[in-house]
Amino acid sequence: MATEHYSLTYYDGFDQQCHAHFTVNEYHNLMELLFDKYVEEWGDCKGRAWCGTCHIHIIEGSITEKMDADEQHTLSNGRDYGSQSRLACQIPVTAQLDGIVFRIVTDI
Ligand code: FES
Repeated sequence: MATEHYSLTYYDGFDQQCHAHFTVNEYHNLMELLFDKYVEEWGDCKGRAWCGTCHIHIIEGSITEKMDADEQHTLSNGRDYGSQSRLACQIPVTAQLDGIVFRIVTDI
């Protein structure tokens, strides 16, 4: 069976539009995918939902994965928290991410 390839779009800390490519289950979560290939300045807690460095705002598309208490707590204590906020480390890499657009929330 052929491996399906997917892509997503994100805006980095400089508001630059970037594209990432992935296959399902290539990484545990969205933070690991971007950390490994594209974004080095996040993931301080290695995906435990504690640091908030992987905060993103979903612009297009939706994530059906429910937010747990740790993610909710970290996001609500960070900056620019809104209804479109998620922690990338809590989002599994599935076909659902194909075509999604999000912005990386930075401290600058
Ligand atoms: S890597 Fe720390 S909250 Fe996501």
